[in-house]
Amino acid sequence: MATRHVAVLVGSLRKESFNRKIANSLQSLAPASLALDLVDIGSLPLYNADLEADVPAPWAAFRERLRKADAYLFVTPEYNRSVPGVLKNAIDIASRPYGHSAWSGKPGGVISVSPGAIGAFGANHALRQSLVFLNVPAMAQPEAYLGHAAKLFDDQGTLTSEPTREFLHKFLAAFVHWIERNAIR
Ligand SMILES: Cc1cc2nc3c(=O)[nH]c(=O)nc-3n(C[C@H](O)[C@H](O)[C@H](O)COP(=O)(O)O)c2cc1C
Repeated sequence: MATRHVAVLVGSLRKESFNRKIANSLQSLAPASLALDLVDIGSLPLYNADLEADVPAPWAAFRERLRKADAYLFVTPEYNRSVPGVLKNAIDIASRPYGHSAWSGKPGGVISVSPGAIGAFGANHALRQSLVFLNVPAMAQPEAYLGHAAKLFDDQGTLTSEPTREFLHKFLAAFVHWIERNAIR
């Protein structure tokens, strides 16, 4: 099986972010056929259509990285029952200029993580609403709502929850199949 390159976008900029810790853990849980590439979204200037006349270098580099990816994986917290602004900003930047969206019909996956009980369900589904419009087929099952996130790691930020590790292992195995079924190249 060919290696598939997955751009991973984390919806939190916090140093001790649970979402970032989960994203980091995915590297060691992923099958060999999946290359996970964590893409920084924190240094992207806020979307402003006026800037399309002279595209900021971070936008251009970000769009190019997404275009090179075979698939997208979002790991996001929930802010006020939706996705954090930093992630929405990244989504918007890569969707433009009109007619040249970098998302381009490639397969996607969503993992949402929260210290709360319902695992950022609201953000997970708010994100899926954008993905429908962007023509990113998002894997339906297994759904990944990781709740009680503060209990999943040790002091070094290592994912120590065995059920969560097993779940993510299965999630990634399913994601490999999802990518193969929906890949555009
Ligand atoms: C502005 C803001 C809004 C939040 N809204 C929600 C929410 O709607 N649902 C939820 O489960 N947690 C909410 N939280 C708590 C986050 O889940 C928590 O801060 C979490 O640790 C953020 O993810 P991170 O650890 O990856 O940074 C909110 C936090 C902030 C700062």
